[in-house]
Amino acid sequence: MAIEIVPLAKSDIAGAVDCVQKAFADDPYFRWAFNDPSQVCPALVPICIMIIFRLILTLRLAQFNIQRNAASLAAHFEYGINCNCPISIAKVTHAVDDKKIDGEVQLTPGTVVGVGWWYSPQSVSASQTWSVWAQECILSFRQFLNNVRFLGRGGLNISRYWIWKQVQNEAHEALWTDPHGYYFCNMVGVSSEARGMGVGKRLMESVMEKADQEGVSCYLESSKGYPNVTIYEKMGFELVKEIECADGGDICKLYCMIRHPKAKS
Ligand SMILES: CC(C)(COP(=O)(O)OP(=O)(O)OC[C@H]1O[C@@H](n2cnc3c(N)ncnc32)[C@H](O)[C@@H]1OP(=O)(O)O)[C@@H](O)C(=O)NCCC(=O)NCCS
Repeated sequence: MAIEIVPLAKSDIAGAVDCVQKAFADDPYFRWAFNDPSQVCPALVPICIMIIFRLILTLRLAQFNIQRNAASLAAHFEYGINCNCPISIAKVTHAVDDKKIDGEVQLTPGTVVGVGWWYSPQSVSASQTWSVWAQECILSFRQFLNNVRFLGRGGLNISRYWIWKQVQNEAHEALWTDPHGYYFCNMVGVSSEARGMGVGKRLMESVMEKADQEGVSCYLESSKGYPNVTIYEKMGFELVKEIECADGGDICKLYCMIRHPKAKS
């Protein structure tokens, strides 16, 4: 199977969304931040409480809605492209008669099997540009429309989202000591059928090589300790901190890793 790494184009957003949803389906952060419908047992609730309960459920505690999630991811990808974020995809390029048939799996040319989304480094002295501010407004508006269209956040647990944001900000304040800033790996995911074939490494290298040339460090957070910490260590990252997003007894651990720029040999 031949795979090329190319910048994300708007025409590939749908494929990238599909790939991310599949790659992160069992991700610990994803399972922590989105409501688990199995916790709800409406049959035990008296009818009047149930009406209120159902309203809250629809607006705040609704089950995971894959279409709402896809719309949100698509809006974020569009934001990323418009903000010139380094976003790469891994795309199958082989001929149609060379389909990979692996049990039920068939990968046709054009299938997106990996996505790597980074943010460019922000030096401490740099302030936000007007264009990024405008893109954030557009993203918020699109998310508002998604809330209306899908009657809520599609199962995102808002309080957990804010817990994560706060814990993440505290980690960045403690760890991001380099005044040049960091290339921040916002997400990298490879479809299960294409894992272990070097796709993740190529997606990471597309930015790590640039970071090395510029003498800038890279940073990522992974909610999967095993096997990701080992995988990223092989790419030159070091585990620098383990942080916890805690909601009651339900904890999501994040592994913070930094890669310092490598000098050319
Ligand atoms: C993490 C992930 C992106 C890695 O992508 P990948 O394409 O499977 O990784 P690669 O094939 O490029 O492997 C990179 C290196 O890790 C090693 N590796 C891959 N899988 C491994 C595993 N399960 N255990 C140990 N090492 C592993 C490879 O041998 C390779 O090392 P090398 O350079 O010495 O040969 C991919 O597994 C994934 O999408 N996982 C699910 C989503 C996720 O957790 N994303 C990360 C969020 S931060």
